[in-house]
Amino acid sequence: MEFKTLIDERRSVRKYTEGIDHEALAGILREAQRAPSWKNQQTARCYAVETPEILEDLRAAALPSFNRNSSAHAALIVTTYVKDVVGFGDGAPVNEIGNGWGAYDLGLHDAYLILAAKNAGYDTLIMGIRDADVIREKLGIPRSEEIMSVIAVGKSGEAPSLRPRKAMEEVVRFF
Ligand SMILES: Cc1cc2nc3c(=O)[nH]c(=O)nc-3n(C[C@H](O)[C@H](O)[C@H](O)COP(=O)(O)O)c2cc1C
Repeated sequence: MEFKTLIDERRSVRKYTEGIDHEALAGILREAQRAPSWKNQQTARCYAVETPEILEDLRAAALPSFNRNSSAHAALIVTTYVKDVVGFGDGAPVNEIGNGWGAYDLGLHDAYLILAAKNAGYDTLIMGIRDADVIREKLGIPRSEEIMSVIAVGKSGEAPSLRPRKAMEEVVRFF
């Protein structure tokens, strides 16, 4: 897909007709790995859930009802980052951001992921409202990783309109 079209057409989708096949999912995750990261340390981690029984169990236990409904029929990707690596040197934060840099790198990774999904013909919903403790226990995610988002991926069953963006003057200053 042409890049501008990709940017123009991506939306958060809250209704799915079906999930995604394994090869397409693996392809999207490979493209997400191409995102830049601090010193190329690549601390983003993904837990891709595609097995129907595991999906239903996770959705029921770890998502509030609105996100459970929005992500029905979609696959789920839990994204995490390994803590205390990015932005750290000799065991101490190199500046005031600390583990915020790990979160920053994961955000870049996830941005690549949702655009790669769109380019491959799938839509996504990033969900920050989820129960991290339940996810950690169900998927066996180590404590060394911070659980951030759960991303639904699948075939869209709706055509959401563009959510408004703030006026550029409100968010950008030119010097
Ligand atoms: C970090 C993050 C967390 C989000 N969490 C949720 C969520 O829990 N549930 C939901 O329905 N949407 C969630 N969203 C989607 C936003 O509401 C959506 O991106 C925003 O309204 C802009 O719409 P658009 O993605 O269609 O451009 C989240 C988005 C981000 C980036």
